[in-house]
Amino acid sequence: MSTEYKSGIISLAEAYKDYFKIGAAVTVNDLQGEHGELLKKHFNSITAENAMKFGEIHPEEARYDFEKPDKMKEFALSNNMKMRGHTFVWHNQTSDWIFADKNGKEAPRELVLERLRQHVKVVCDRYKDVIYAWDVVNEAIEDKSGEQYRDTKWRRILGEDYIKTAFEVVKEIDNKSELIYNDYNNELPDKLEKSYDMLKGLLEKGTPIDGVGLQGHWNIRDKNLMENLRRAIESYGSLGLKLQVTELDVSMFEFEDRRTDLNEPTSEMLYLQEQTYENIFSIFREYKELVTSVTFWGISDKYTWKDNFPVFGRKDWPMLFDINGKPKGSFEKVVNYK
Ligand code: GLA
Repeated sequence: MSTEYKSGIISLAEAYKDYFKIGAAVTVNDLQGEHGELLKKHFNSITAENAMKFGEIHPEEARYDFEKPDKMKEFALSNNMKMRGHTFVWHNQTSDWIFADKNGKEAPRELVLERLRQHVKVVCDRYKDVIYAWDVVNEAIEDKSGEQYRDTKWRRILGEDYIKTAFEVVKEIDNKSELIYNDYNNELPDKLEKSYDMLKGLLEKGTPIDGVGLQGHWNIRDKNLMENLRRAIESYGSLGLKLQVTELDVSMFEFEDRRTDLNEPTSEMLYLQEQTYENIFSIFREYKELVTSVTFWGISDKYTWKDNFPVFGRKDWPMLFDINGKPKGSFEKVVNYK
């Protein structure tokens, strides 16, 4: 990797110190080497990409796996960073044992609730020095039109009020972190409407929700993104909620685009990506009173989950740093805003 990032170039987190935290999703390998250096220089928040998901951190009822999250916590504390906690109640990457009784049948509500409480208590206590926000519930809204909620085991067992219950459980144990409802596509008009209704209803019932997470898995060709984003921030803000961008990446491909013939991004792609990053960060800055952090779902183009989604094994280049860790034109657009 070039040494440019070490020399004169400006730090992303530094450029945004008067606005919001700048985060990255990480694996333990990212804490060393080139990615470790980029993290120290440019970010002041990290999220475990997978290591704190229920199935990873608590694979069996009597066994937690703290090894990776502990390393992340140490890294964060020794580099003056904070962490986002991701995630408690989600339909994916969640251990099956939590929903089963000792005979392998579906566990009753009280048992699942007690297990959730225990889990939240153990995890919150262990990471309370470093966490500033929790994704309490992830992706509860159904994508199909006409249906409001995703049908999940959590909902089936804990009941229709399970989102409220989950926030109450976490609030009782951690009353200082920002408690977030996190989802994808929740800036698109249909899903925004469902999310808005859901959150309004939850707030009216006194649910302790502080903010909404916009995952921000976007792409360079979405012509409505700015308009949708602005509308979403204003709608959620009108409910008194804060916003966090929790999983930002700007893919070179639209979701429907399944081409696999590129070894590197075209100059048109790089140009559109620069425009997109410039525009979205200008909106984030404009709403700095509402936006409390912006987290990228990765660090550089060297490694991104987009390399396997939605097309397995197709390289994508969604981040601000290239495959060698060098700042791209998009990085320049994001930091040079004055
Ligand atoms: C969702 C989850 C993340 C991650 C991404 C894909 O957005 O919230 O934890 O799994 O999918 O990496």
